[in-house]
Formats: sequence, structure tokens, C-alpha cells
Amino acid sequence: MITNTQLEYRGNQFPSAIKSFEQTINNLFFTTENNVVLCVTVLRDSLLRFRFNTEGVFGNDFSYAIDEECVHGYNKLEVEEDNYKYIITTNKVQCILNKADLRVGIYDLDGNPILEDELGFHWEENYEYGGNIVKMSKVTVDGESFFGLGDKATHFNLKGKRVSNWNTDEYAYGVDRDPLYKTVPFYVGLRRGVSYGIFFDNTFRTYFDFCQERRNVSSFWADGGEMNYYFLYGPAMDSVVSVYTELTGKPELPPLWALGYHQCKWSYYPEAKVRDVTSKFRELQIPCDAIYLDIDYMDGFRCFTWNKTYFPDPKKMVSDLNEEGFKTVVIIDPGIKVDPEYDVYQQALENDYFCHRADGPYMRGKVWPGRCYFPDFTNPQVRDWWVDLYKELIEDIGVKGVWNDMNEPAVMEVPTKTFPLDVRHDYDGNPCSHRKAHNIYGMQMARATYEGVKKFAYPKRPFIITRAAYSGAQRFTSFWTGDNVASWEHLWLATVQVQRMCISGMSFAGTDIGGFAEQPTGELYARWIQLGVFHPFCRTHSSGDHGEQEPWSFDEDVLNITRKYIELRYTLLPYLYTAFWKYSDKGEPILKPLVYFDQEDTQTHYRTDEFVFGRQILVCPILEFNVQGRRMYMPRGKWYNFWTDEVVTGGRELWVEAPLHIIPIFIKEGAMIPRYPVQQYVGEKKIEELVMDVYYKLGEEKSVVYEDGQDGYDYTKGRYSLMNFKLIGKKDELLLKQHYEGMFETSYDDIVFRLHGLPFEIEKVFINNEEISLESLIVESGNALKVNKIFTDLRIIGKK
Ligand code: GLC
Repeated sequence: MITNTQLEYRGNQFPSAIKSFEQTINNLFFTTENNVVLCVTVLRDSLLRFRFNTEGVFGNDFSYAIDEECVHGYNKLEVEEDNYKYIITTNKVQCILNKADLRVGIYDLDGNPILEDELGFHWEENYEYGGNIVKMSKVTVDGESFFGLGDKATHFNLKGKRVSNWNTDEYAYGVDRDPLYKTVPFYVGLRRGVSYGIFFDNTFRTYFDFCQERRNVSSFWADGGEMNYYFLYGPAMDSVVSVYTELTGKPELPPLWALGYHQCKWSYYPEAKVRDVTSKFRELQIPCDAIYLDIDYMDGFRCFTWNKTYFPDPKKMVSDLNEEGFKTVVIIDPGIKVDPEYDVYQQALENDYFCHRADGPYMRGKVWPGRCYFPDFTNPQVRDWWVDLYKELIEDIGVKGVWNDMNEPAVMEVPTKTFPLDVRHDYDGNPCSHRKAHNIYGMQMARATYEGVKKFAYPKRPFIITRAAYSGAQRFTSFWTGDNVASWEHLWLATVQVQRMCISGMSFAGTDIGGFAEQPTGELYARWIQLGVFHPFCRTHSSGDHGEQEPWSFDEDVLNITRKYIELRYTLLPYLYTAFWKYSDKGEPILKPLVYFDQEDTQTHYRTDEFVFGRQILVCPILEFNVQGRRMYMPRGKWYNFWTDEVVTGGRELWVEAPLHIIPIFIKEGAMIPRYPVQQYVGEKKIEELVMDVYYKLGEEKSVVYEDGQDGYDYTKGRYSLMNFKLIGKKDELLLKQHYEGMFETSYDDIVFRLHGLPFEIEKVFINNEEISLESLIVESGNALKVNKIFTDLRIIGKK
């Protein structure tokens, strides 16, 4: 056990006794005798902010992460005091502050501890840079688990790990490589069945230790800035994650095509190659919605230019591709080539938009174009300028999406792979060095890109993807996990990283399917696409150095498997879109790790592979080569095998068959899964009828289908369609109730209900209490009923 005296000896300082307390509305200020101020802000009954300062006064309160539109409010706030402590009580929690040392404990209303300070807040002065290294430590209990933190390439449960956040370009990273591209200083703790969250909103390099250094202690600290964290109380993990997502911002709905399949490579050029690839998709009837142009489309890697030898008429190409249903997405990097003849460079130079070193010179660094300068995206004027640079690409040429890369920011040929720490940034009027701005740089670039694409694509929706990010970036962009490798280990990382992103507020995420570096075998590619179609963002990408990675680059079998799974994704688009709507509306993650799905079942706490896609589809990827099946954990409840309709009971591990063309998929009993027909791209076909796969359950289950114009903003004015279904299954009856909301006219009038697992033969059907002849409803050789979508009550009665 380390004592405080030993820690003090190491340079740590601690708050002393509280000498005063003041309250202004929901801000509670506690000042200690050594001038430490703690401001506790009660934002909601279960959301408290803790902000410490060691100088007696707080600096400007500014955060890039917090969504200004997020609304708060609480039902109760009481502060009491006795000789030893202050007690803050809300409707959900009690927070106790020790008068002697400012240590904090948070309890539920029955007095059970949720999270207690160990040493609590302490700090070390940073002699070299000024400011403090700010630290926090909490007591943990045996069996406590930790989840979250963005793109960490390690076990899903972070117990026993120490990780840090410093956005890093990490080509071909491996398991446990840390830090990677993104900074999400948010985690969920799960302690004795109760979930809480911590969001440490500090953009300096941050660190988290989950019982690695000391068995019953978790801690987090930063190289500078304030100890400024939010505490979120569950007790269910879903409310922790959705409150975090609301706090840092929910995304708009993407255009539906962005949820289709995307094809990418470094690089497709010249134009003839691009056209070959896209034609091949149509010829082989593999659905695809987006084609990417990597850096070689540019003239000498100058952003916002075209290589006219490779692409003589980009507007014509982009528009021809669009006719075929392909949306063009182009890469834009932050490094601007130092070239006096180049107008983007000239404009930035004239307006002083590039980052400077502390002593004045520009921040110079080598990236793809050679020597570059870098716009300071933390300056609002620079972002405005960047917005307008997109006019030609988006409005004139017709590009539909933008891919921001190398924005950690990445610099080549220097050991630190990024800017030196002395580089200056505006930080929206809070001037600072790169120590503070590094982790936010990529997000601010993606933000400016989002605003630019949105401005010129309007009234259509923008699509942005970024490699680097900070908490809150989900308001502007989607994500991929960077330069992974074509290996089985990376296939495992793919399932772990995307699940982790999903519970870190960043659901619109995916991996380079098949691996970026090196080349997958046909088998690995097949297993990867089977997983990838269940990731919110679904794109094949590869470095191109090691051969081809289009679906037809392997054998016929792999081609057929790839087509089958991409087709499956397209048929599930209304289901995925509904899941996205829940993410965008409520902050609900699109993928649900098993522990999120059922936190009370301790068997789920260390599972890494299986996850629930949306709310009702359980997926278990195959992560080993040459296997015909695997053991998996089936969460509690009853599940239908998607392939066979066989019903299995969960709460146990079991063997599932998985020859190469099968990925284990199970549907929650009672689920109603909406399906569209296979289309080669979104919007190819008019949807003539909606298919709903209904999985009988003895009991009740709710399902939802959200639809709208699939692009544009009419949905924000009420033009959406929301079907809320309730399934009630009895021994010899199945009742489907519908409650409809919205003003959007779907293109179809009828729903085909395909009934799975019905334990009886149908005798009669009543729609809104009126008997309808069975013959007029039955389609598809008897197991499906076609019904007009406008009903409130569909009663299917079995023969006695
Ligand atoms: C980086 C990106 C990769 C891209 C390449 C060339 O390595 O992560 O996706 O293809 O740069 O632009």
C-alpha cells in the first residue's frame, strides 16, 4: 500500500480541508485551505460534473466535446452538511464530500457505493510546461469490469489494462498496440451489476489504469489541463451510454446509401480503372453504393485538385458513376503542399491559416505531397475557409462524400510521427500548444469538412469519414479503425474495436474489410465480409501493395459468399436504418456487446466476439481458419437460428455449425425484422412491399421500423414513418398490434408478414376485428400473409 506521504514525496500534492462552500443554482463550489476549488455541477439527477482547479480560479470553460444543444434538468438538488462532510442529494444519487480532504464518494439512494475516491484528486506541478499533471484515483471492487475508450486494440473488458490517448498514425498495429488513432476518454464501469460512466473531458494526453498498477484502484490522469470529469449513473449500461452520447452529441441520419456497401483501394486510377471496377460490380450483380478515390486522384497530392492525366473530366466521370448508382467519395488530407503556385497554399499563407511553431516559423512536415504546412482547424476562421474549399468538389463535380485521413495529425519521417509539442493553436480563442490541441485536431478537421460537404450538398445529407477523432466527433462523421492487417488476429480486433466504438458513442464505424496491409486468403476475406456486413460502416479497403481485394479477386466460392452477404445487408437496410435512427434519436449504440445486452448475466462480462446487431439479431463471427463451427455464448432468452429456424435456449455456451458459407446468426424470439428486396444500390428499385420476418414467441416483444426519404432533411419536419409493433403470442393465437407515427408516405402499401415458428396451423385472420378470408391474404406457399400496412390489430388464430 502506498501512503499519501510517499506520494507527496514523489511530487504529488493533495487538497487540504474544505474551508468554504458556495452555491449558485446547480453549481456547488468547495474551496480548500490550500486554494483548491472543486465545482460540482448537477446537470441531471444522474449526471454530475466535477471540475477542479488548484489556483483558486477557473479558466474559460470551453469544450469541443460537449454538445451545446444537449438539454439538462434535474428533479432534486439538496445540499446538507455535518461536521465531517457535505451531502449532495439528487433523485438518483448521493454524493458525499469529505471536509478533511475533499475526497468524493457517490452512492445510490440506499447508500450502496457506486464509485468512491481512493486518493481522489491530486496533482503534480509540471515544471517544464507549466500547469499540472492532474490525477484521479478511485476504489474498485473485485469483479468490477471496465469498457469503452474508443478504438483500443485490446480485450473488450479493460480490467487489468493501462491505456493512453494520443492520436497516432499506427500502420499495421497489432493487438495491445496503444495509443491508436482516436481519443475517447470515456469508460463504463460495471460493479456488482450496476453501471456508471466517467467522461474525462481533457484533450491533453490522457491515461487510464484499470487495476493494472494496483489491484483495487482505477485511475486516470492527464499531462495538463484541468481535472474535469463527468460522472454518469446507470444503473443500466444503456442509460450510461446514451446519456454520454447525448452529452457529446448525436449524429444526424446519414443518407441511406452510406449504409450500403463501399469499395475502396489505394488507389483506383486512372478513370478507366475506376469504371472497370464499378462495371464489374454491376456485371457480377454485387450490390455497391460507393466508390472511393484515394490520394492518387489529386495533382501531386494537392488537396482540392485533380490529376488531369488520370481524370481528364472528373465531373463527367462522377456523373456517369452516379447514373450507375455509385456515389463518389474522395480523400482529403490536412497537409497542404508547400507550393507557391498552388492556390490553396497561397490563400492559407495570405490569411495566416497555417499552424506556427512557438517561435514563429510555420509547422513544416512531410506527408504524401512532400513538404507541407497544416491549417489550424482549431481556428474558426480557418474552418470557414475550409468549408468553402468544398464548393467545386461537391457542388460542381458532384462528389457525395469526403474521407479525412492523416489527421492525427500524421507527419512522416519524424520519430514522434506528429507535430512537435510547441506548435501553436487557436483552440477557438483559447490559444494553446499542440500538447492540448493534438487530440482535437482531427475532429476539428472532420467538423469543417462536414460543414463544407453539408453546405454544398444541401438539401442532400453529407457523408464524412475520419481516421482521427475526439469524443463528440460522432456529430459530424463516421469512422474506420485505420491501417489494420489481413490477419486472423485483426479479424478478432475488428469485432472488438467496432463494438468498443459503438459503446463509446461512435456507432458509425467499421474496419478495412479484408485488412489494409498484406493480403487476405479467400477464406479470411469471406469470414471478414460476413462480419463486416453487420458493422454500421461497411467498406473493403486495402493498400493495394499486395494484390487485389475486390470481391472477385478470390475464387468463385468466395465471390458467391461475398455476394450473398452483401445482399443480406441490403435486405436488412430498413432494420439497420431503424437502428441508426435509434442511435441518432436516443444515442443507442447500433451494435450491442453482450455485456451491454445483458449486464446482469456475469457470463457476458468477458465475452469479446458475439454481439447484437440492432436489438434483435445476434451475430457470432468465425475468427479462426479452417473451422466448420465454433463454441459461442448464447445470451439468455430464446433465439431462432436464422438459417434453420431452429429455436435454442440461451444462458449457455454451445457449439454452432459454420461451414465457410455460414456465419452464425440468431434472431431474438418475438422479433419482427423488416426487409427490402436485394438492390444493386439504394434507390435502384421502388420498394413495392415491405417484408417483415416475424418470429413467434409465447409472450410479448416490441419492434420498430423507421423509414423516411432516405436522404434530405424532410424527416426533421415530421416526414418520416414510424411503425411501432407489439407482438403478443399465445398458444393458439398471434396478435400483432401497430401504432403508427409520422407523415411520410412509403412507396409500398402492403406488408408481407413471413411467420416463423408458428406453433399452430392458421384458421382465421382478423384485421381490426374484422374477419378477412385467409385465401386473400396468404402468399409464398402458405407461411406468409400480405396485409395492407394500415392496421392497428392483426389477429392470427390457430386451429384448435
Ligand atoms: C493511410 C490511410 C489509408 C490510405 C492511405 C493513402 O494509410 O489510413 O486508408 O489508403 O493513407 O491515402
